[in-house]
Amino acid sequence: MKSISFFNNKGGVGKTTTLYHVGFELEQQGYRVLFVDCDPQCNLTSHIFDLEIIEDIWNAEQSSIYDAVKPIIKGSGDVDFIQPKKVNNRNIWIYPGDLLLSDFDSILSETWTQVLARQERGFRVTTAIYRLYTKFAKEYEIDFVLIDLGPNLGSLNRSLLLSCDHFIIPLIPDLFSLRGSQNLGRTLSNWVEEWQDSIERTAIDPDFIIPQSAPKFSGYIVSQFNEYGRKPVKAWVKWEKEIPKYIKNFVYEPLSKSKNIKSEPDIENQYKIGQMKNYNSLIPMAQTALKPIFELTSKDGVIGDHHRYVKDCKTNYTNLVLRIIENIQ
Ligand SMILES: Nc1ncnc2c1ncn2[C@@H]1O[C@H](COP(=O)(O)OP(=O)(O)O)[C@@H](O)[C@H]1O
Ligand SMILES: [Mg+2]
Repeated sequence: MKSISFFNNKGGVGKTTTLYHVGFELEQQGYRVLFVDCDPQCNLTSHIFDLEIIEDIWNAEQSSIYDAVKPIIKGSGDVDFIQPKKVNNRNIWIYPGDLLLSDFDSILSETWTQVLARQERGFRVTTAIYRLYTKFAKEYEIDFVLIDLGPNLGSLNRSLLLSCDHFIIPLIPDLFSLRGSQNLGRTLSNWVEEWQDSIERTAIDPDFIIPQSAPKFSGYIVSQFNEYGRKPVKAWVKWEKEIPKYIKNFVYEPLSKSKNIKSEPDIENQYKIGQMKNYNSLIPMAQTALKPIFELTSKDGVIGDHHRYVKDCKTNYTNLVLRIIENIQ
């Protein structure tokens, strides 16, 4: 089992859309996939289930990712090992997102102080979601756990990033997206240092230790769209050229500083694992059909030239998934 999170401190850069498509493509390539929707905005969940199902999930106990951590929030116990929802006829499961998950963020912020003070509760709470998905993944022979995160450097994201094996950065070639990448590597390497230091100096239950404890940077994906559709494409050329430099200075180097790496990496060759086009009207079509773009057909409203884009999208994701698999070996 490999766990991968998609992360950028900036929102609207394609994290959720890309993660969703990567998951469905991985499944098409024969893997078993578990999504964990840890963005309280729940965009991933709403790309998978319609509103009625989501309402049922939230009304039922023991259904969403919030329900799993509720005993910790209420102070009544440890994580509740609930079952994720299965996507019909697919080898895909999801721990559905929940707006209430933000309550867990403040708990995790308090418990980080306990981690630093080397108190067991700190480790238990920080690893709660990790222990939840790992247990299920083992029992159901999941190959890939894909974790969607909100755009911030808060405590929830800290606990999730620390616990995953790999992370991938989706970005857009623009000023905002690149600015958002500037504190990523530094912040993450501080978290890893604090976490490892605390683990080393504390006798804790091995169940509460995150095995790898240092997520590996496994690539970036450039998406060429912007939410507002206003900014000129020309400006992207300039920012796109800047990306490898940003990745090297603000992600790669801060994370490798302790490893004493001497050789200069070829950032673009090694880490640029995909490029996403603007899929325009196919995006809302896929969201309405609750399907990935590359599975849309005429019945979903695809007409004329758009069939070509659907095919093109398939090729693009097949290649992206191959690159991801290659980079996480
Ligand atoms: N390749 C794409 N082409 C066009 N629009 C896209 C593409 N990828 C994502 N979008 C749209 O851009 C917005 C932000 O994407 P999203 O995946 O939610 O980003 P994030 O998770 O980083 O906030 C959404 O409205 C989404 O539908
Ligand atoms: Mg998102």
